[in-house]
Formats: sequence, C-alpha cells, structure tokens
Amino acid sequence: MDKRVLLKVVDLKKYFSMDTGIFSKTKSYLKAVDGVSFEIRRGETFGLVGESGCGKSTTGRTILRLYNPTGGQILFDGEDLSGLDDKGLVPYRKKIQMIFQDPYASLNPRMTVSELLSEGLRTHNICTKEQEQGRIFELLEKVGLKRDHANRYPHEFSGGQRQRISIARALAVEPELVICDEPISALDVSIQAQVVNMLEDLQNEMGLTYLFIAHDLSMVKHISDRIGVMYLGMLMEVSESDELYEKPLHPYTQALLSAIPIPDPDVTRKNKRRILTGDVPSPIDPPEGCRFASRCPFASDKCKSETPVLEDVGNGHLVACHHWQAIATGERKANTPVTAVVV
Ligand SMILES: Nc1ncnc2c1ncn2[C@@H]1O[C@H](COP(=O)(O)OP(=O)(O)O)[C@@H](O)[C@H]1O
Ligand SMILES: [Mg+2]
Repeated sequence: MDKRVLLKVVDLKKYFSMDTGIFSKTKSYLKAVDGVSFEIRRGETFGLVGESGCGKSTTGRTILRLYNPTGGQILFDGEDLSGLDDKGLVPYRKKIQMIFQDPYASLNPRMTVSELLSEGLRTHNICTKEQEQGRIFELLEKVGLKRDHANRYPHEFSGGQRQRISIARALAVEPELVICDEPISALDVSIQAQVVNMLEDLQNEMGLTYLFIAHDLSMVKHISDRIGVMYLGMLMEVSESDELYEKPLHPYTQALLSAIPIPDPDVTRKNKRRILTGDVPSPIDPPEGCRFASRCPFASDKCKSETPVLEDVGNGHLVACHHWQAIATGERKANTPVTAVVV
C-alpha cells in the first residue's frame, strides 16, 4: 500500500442549526459531527462505524462538500476543500465519489443504465462521444453486469444489481476516493459478501481509496485496513482493523463487538456479552464531558465533566477514554452489572 495520505480530516465539525422559534434568543445546534480527525492513505480502506444517528453520513457528505463544514479542514491530496466554492470544487466532484445505502433512491428511475453512466462521462469529459458506448460496456462488465443491461431502467433490476449500477456510475468518472455509505446494509445477506468482494477487487484493480461506512463492526471487519469508531459526532477509537477486534480499548467499542452474533454455537465468547444500558443522548446541545458517559458502565465524575482527547496509545492505536488503561488491567470495575449470558 502507498504510504502517502490521500485524505486528512482535521477537527471536522458540522452543526445543523435548529429552528427554536422566533422568540427564542439562543440558537440550538445539532452537533452531527463535532471535531472528527482521521486520515486515509492511498489505496487504503478506512471503516467508519457507529450506531445510527452518530454522524457517519454527515461526515461523508461534508467531506464531499454536499454540506458546508462548520469548522475544520478537509485536506485532499494536500488541498483544503473546506473553503472552496463551487468552481474550486469542480475537479474534486470527479476525484471523490459516493455510493449510497439505497441504490433505488440514488438512481433516477427515468434514466436507462446507459444514460445514468454516460452522465458523469460527459460532465467530466472522460471520453469522446465515439468511445462512450465502449466505455459503458466496459463499466458494466467490471461490476458483473451484461452489455444488454445498458438499455434497461433501474426498476428492472434486483437490489444487488442496482447497487452494482451505482458502483459503475461512481467509478465511471475514474475517482480516487470513494465514500461507500452503508453500501450493503439494504441488501440481502446472501448478496452482501458478493458486493463487498467486488468492491475489494475493483479497489485493487483501479487503485481506489475507500471510506467505508457501516453501522456495525461485523460488516467492516473484512474490508477495512483501519477502523474509526464513532459515537454522537465524535471518534472514540481508531485502530488497525485486526488490533481493534483483538484488543478493543474503548468501552463503547467493546460493547459494539460483544453485540456481534457468533454464528457457531460451539464457540464460546471470550468476553461475556455486554449490554448497553441507557439512551443515546440527543446530539442537540450535547453536555460537556465524554459523550458516552451516560451509557458507560465505567464512567466516573471526571467523564461527565472533561471531554477525553483522542490520543495515540501506541502503534497508531488511538482512544478517547480517561480510564482505558485501568479498564484494560481490570483495576477499574464496572459501576453497574453489564454482562448478560449470551443466548
Ligand atoms: N440535513 C440535516 N438537518 C438536520 N439534522 C440532520 C441532517 N442530516 C442529519 N441530521 C442529524 O444529524 C445526526 C447524524 O445523522 P447522520 O449523519 O445521518 O447519522 P448516521 O449516518 O451515523 O446514521 C442525526 O441526529 C440526524 O438526525
Ligand atoms: Mg447514515
């Protein structure tokens, strides 16, 4: 893998202002992304994981500049995209592409596959008019579809095939970074592995870099080189993929991992299943301190008042927790019973 960094996100923030009524003096903000930093090297897959509503899609959309960031930098190949206007963004509209969770919603139902694919080719002058047809056939073959699919409409395909069309459309413009926003979550389990394998093959073939978003850790394990675990707009832990599964340091990551079902009943779980209690707090004007404190079995008073910094604890393994060491050694015990027998 190329060691050069392709994307570096520094303290990225995206707040949505809430309409609190005309008589209200203070504005409320929904802090969807609140100071996220990570980098992705060329050819790497960075998995971004967290429960629904934690800000994963907003992170992806802000990087793509579908949203204006509230703060922070988006360095793509060294160039900061955060302040660019529409004109300045033109080259990056080609270099960065996104694949969405619901391929049906993201494909115009009135356009044929051929029209859907040629749109990007023309906008970004990828090839001449004469080359267009050949290029479309090539793209269809790349994603495992047939030439005679070119004249059909999205509704004539299965969910998995539609996602293949979205992938072909994203790849048509020869991007460098592809933001895959839960690309397999809406698909049948039987098809999920096929699509992930295809994305991996295409990555190797085309030298692509992926930001791969998922809501649970089981989906990203295979494809990611490194993973960031997000909770309420902030990163809790970032690590090499294998290390994260073997040695999760943050109580939230540990809880997410223990929630993955183990398919083989003869395999007993090393750690007992940890059930998260308490509600996910609202991202609107979140309180000081660790965002996870209200659900964390290990939380102290410090956690409720001081926000832990995401720091490198060795080998590029980053964690944002005041007590990760004491939890790892067993010195710090859970305040509440948190384990349950796995059934
Ligand atoms: N356009 C928007 N306007 C206001 N709030 C939004 C908007 N998009 C997302 N949100 C809110 O931001 C938070 C993060 O959402 P999202 O990034 O979609 O989470 P995820 O992709 O992790 O499920 C949620 O509370 C969501 O309701
Ligand atoms: Mg999402």
